[in-house]
Amino acid sequence: MRIDIISIFPEYFAPLSVSLMGKARERGILDIRLHQLRDWAHDVHHTVDDTPYGGGPGMVMKPEVWGEAIDAVIARSAGEFPGASIASGGTSGDGVVAGSSGGIAGESLVSGLEGEVAAVGGPVAGRTPRLIVPTPSGRRFTQSVALEYAAEPWLLFAPARYEGIDSRVMVEYASRLRVDEVSIGDYVLAGGEAAVLVMVEAVARLLPGVLGNANSVTDDSFAPGAMQNLLEGPVYTKPPVWRGHEVPEILLSGHHGKIARWRRDEALRRTYIRRPDLLPAVQDLDKADRQALA
Ligand code: ADE
Repeated sequence: MRIDIISIFPEYFAPLSVSLMGKARERGILDIRLHQLRDWAHDVHHTVDDTPYGGGPGMVMKPEVWGEAIDAVIARSAGEFPGASIASGGTSGDGVVAGSSGGIAGESLVSGLEGEVAAVGGPVAGRTPRLIVPTPSGRRFTQSVALEYAAEPWLLFAPARYEGIDSRVMVEYASRLRVDEVSIGDYVLAGGEAAVLVMVEAVARLLPGVLGNANSVTDDSFAPGAMQNLLEGPVYTKPPVWRGHEVPEILLSGHHGKIARWRRDEALRRTYIRRPDLLPAVQDLDKADRQALA
């Protein structure tokens, strides 16, 4: 998967070189390119913001700078992958400040691949990225949105600082790209960068080959299937007794059917206590489920 991130703080994304994300990049599963937004600001101070029309506190990010940056990042990829293109836009500035060698092949993408997970280091030729703009006023980023994004070959993140990006930028690109304004939760961050880190990690761990054990993804809280909308229950490892606290006996029994039932009961109870709002969305509660909740 190809991920481009345009930000005034590209250094904010250093954690994407650590641990699972770092390994995924080394293996060419993830190709992350960082771009300094200020490279597309033309005044001596590399200004990216201005006062809001209509008054009010804070500053708004300038549309010209974002427009040039997005056009240029897409146009550059068009050079790398013939076929990736955007209808218009002057390009200036080479904003790449860091990146991985990624290993995206130059061959053209078989058409009709929409919705499938792109091959490892797969080509993005013939495509445009999905543009993702983090904002507290966006639609909620959830596990199902993460799954949707994991099926895309190319994501372009545009995290804002200040009061956000001039709204015309999202209107302009909505006619050429799929544009999502997304929120990672009902709180306000100092900028969209932390939200991008959260989303990239949630998406990347879903890509084939990133996690050691593919079951980790299917057993997740919120993953589609038996656990959908249920919080995962408690987990244990050795020793069987620690500071007087015992591991539930059933987990030592070796009885897979009973263990699976116990896990589901614990998940149901935990969801009931911590996130009762999720329970109405749990599909097909059976008699044993109802007993666990009684
Ligand atoms: N920028 C500031 N707060 C945010 C949030 N909650 N989600 C996404 N982007 C943000």
